[in-house]
Amino acid sequence: MSDILVHTEAGVMTLTFNRVDKKNSITSAMYAALADALAQAKDDAAVRVVLIQGDATIFSAGNDIGDFLNQPPAGQDSPVFRFLRGIAQFPKPIVAAVCGPAVGIGTTLLFHCDLVYAGDNAAFSMPFVNLGLCPEAASSLLAPQMFGHHRAAEALLLGEPFMAEAALEVGLVNRVVPPTECNAVAQQQARKLAAKPLSALIETKRLMKGGQQAAVLARMDEEGASFGRMLREPAAREAFTAFMEKRKPDFSKV
Ligand code: COA
Repeated sequence: MSDILVHTEAGVMTLTFNRVDKKNSITSAMYAALADALAQAKDDAAVRVVLIQGDATIFSAGNDIGDFLNQPPAGQDSPVFRFLRGIAQFPKPIVAAVCGPAVGIGTTLLFHCDLVYAGDNAAFSMPFVNLGLCPEAASSLLAPQMFGHHRAAEALLLGEPFMAEAALEVGLVNRVVPPTECNAVAQQQARKLAAKPLSALIETKRLMKGGQQAAVLARMDEEGASFGRMLREPAAREAFTAFMEKRKPDFSKV
């Protein structure tokens, strides 16, 4: 079965991370599937809303670390950048349901969603610094804007995880619910949106986001250039190798 399930019903295209044995970490092929699904959803009149979900135990452990080591994204046409540009510019509403860990891009993609529902077991983290990396998905712009600089620094400089209630407090999520109900609550909200006039949804989202669309895309490019370089540097190589070897990283020489 595919690692990204795509199902459209009642105007809602539901994209489900389906690689639970690897904690829904996202491979290059999965980014390509996500990017393709968003491109299709954008043009398909039958899709009015997109919902992104994992299962009750895990949203996503972020980028597949084996991929980071063996086939780091090369350039702006790589699947991850296609996905990021697609989600940042997606014109229709996007809803997310997050339970369990949401690591790296598992958290940063949420800055590009419109409604986010979290299970009370959700744990958000952006541990880029701990991996010798820098933020992506314009999170270096959007996290300080949403959380304030100091709380964003805890998340981005210390790389500290934060739980559902803290995410609610800083405005990253709309509501915290029991994990077993999270996907259903998000689906219900997505269907509510899907019943509204699509042209009004699209115009309202455009007006809400339009003011800083160019800045978001420019920041993504800037982050992407740094991230791509840092992926190949010794600190990140040590962090990824340590993860694969199930040991603590040793940054004493980098
Ligand atoms: N890339 C590749 N494989 C991953 C992965 C990732 N990002 N995250 C988890 N996995 C794999 C593990 O290697 C393990 O595989 P194995 O069973 O073949 O050994 C399996 O998924 C289960 O992971 P495990 O770490 O044992 O689960 P856990 O419940 O103890 O911890 C996480 C869950 C998400 C907290 C932990 O897996 C983690 O921190 N992952 C890395 C997150 C990360 O740094 N992502 C990059 C962000 S830029």
